[in-house]
Amino acid sequence: MTLQEKESQLFFHTYKRLFLEVVRGEGCYLFTRDGKKYLDMFSGLAVNALGYAHPVIVKAIEEQARKYTHLSNFFIQEPQVQLAERLIQLSGFEKVFFSNSGTEAIEGSIKLVRKWGKTRNKKIIFGMSNGFSGRTMGALSLMDKEKYREGYEPFLPNFGTICYNDAHDLKSKIDDNTAAVFLEFIQGEGGIVCASPEFIATLKELRNKFNFLIVADEIQSGIGRTGKFFGYQHFDIIPDIVTIAKPIGGGLPLGAILGSNKVAEVWHYGVHGTTFGGNPVACAAGVATLETVMKDEFLSNVKNTAQYFFSKLNNLKSRFPIIKEIRGYGYMIGIDLTIESSPLVDEMLRQGVLVNSTASTVIRILPPLIAGKPEFDTLLNVLENVLAEHSVV
Ligand SMILES: Cc1ncc(COP(=O)(O)O)c(C=O)c1O
Repeated sequence: MTLQEKESQLFFHTYKRLFLEVVRGEGCYLFTRDGKKYLDMFSGLAVNALGYAHPVIVKAIEEQARKYTHLSNFFIQEPQVQLAERLIQLSGFEKVFFSNSGTEAIEGSIKLVRKWGKTRNKKIIFGMSNGFSGRTMGALSLMDKEKYREGYEPFLPNFGTICYNDAHDLKSKIDDNTAAVFLEFIQGEGGIVCASPEFIATLKELRNKFNFLIVADEIQSGIGRTGKFFGYQHFDIIPDIVTIAKPIGGGLPLGAILGSNKVAEVWHYGVHGTTFGGNPVACAAGVATLETVMKDEFLSNVKNTAQYFFSKLNNLKSRFPIIKEIRGYGYMIGIDLTIESSPLVDEMLRQGVLVNSTASTVIRILPPLIAGKPEFDTLLNVLENVLAEHSVV
């Protein structure tokens, strides 16, 4: 039996897997059993910020694995403290809680918000239309997409969604009962849809008036992906709570909630916890990731290379009318087409470049942050080929 046949027999059928049989990765490239090399401009769903087998990550993991791979949160663990210190310095927040994943950081934030709201008689929590918060029941309660929710009803009570970028809808729903609004400032799964500055200004105004918490979901957009440390920093606002995950563990499972002292005071011993959250090896890899991403010119390189890529994409848009819109910030890029994007994404993979299809018509590009102009040029060549093949003559 092939691996594919075994997979089909052994696993719940929740994933549509790619046909690649990867044997190793290096930098921005994946190598498969049949001897082929692929340019990975999707970086394991925005996780592999430093690509594959980056020496600083390998070293951090090796060194920590020799000391201890797990102690539990009964112990103070040096890698956790080091990562917390750096995150707090970089973010300006005051407290951190480590989880295993993004959805668990969302789940923890919902609990934090519930407790904060309880003493203030604020019960209602809003997510955004077209948003994605994860797969647990709390996360699904924040979302509106049937694709993810269908069949899992009933969801948590006192949840609702606000129409993304609709200031009127926001104003009509927010009041004194509002405990929190969760949002991605750049929606990832939703097709790289960016918040409008007007919408964010209204949200800020309403927070001043009604005193609720703004929770920024930076799970996909955080840690430099957009050219700034957090995606919300492209807007004139500071959230009350931030959730991060994906790249923060350097490829190992790790998430976190960041918040101010004002919010953190509602949590005390025993009210929330996890066995694995803040795993020391993942935290050590996280420290190595942060040190690299925040070094010297790293993020300005991301910004400059992204600018180069966006201008090339705009050239393609003027030549290929099947490109409806190009959206995003930094290395979080969406090409919205007038047709289904998955046949183009499949063809790009056959031509050696891995990107992703989301929201039916969007080609989503989430390159490792180490990708430079040569990698983007390779992608542009292949993209141009497939756009030409799929354009009506
Ligand atoms: C914005 C956002 N929030 C939450 C999640 C859930 O994270 P995880 O898959 O680690 O549970 C994701 C995952 O794609 C995400 O993109």
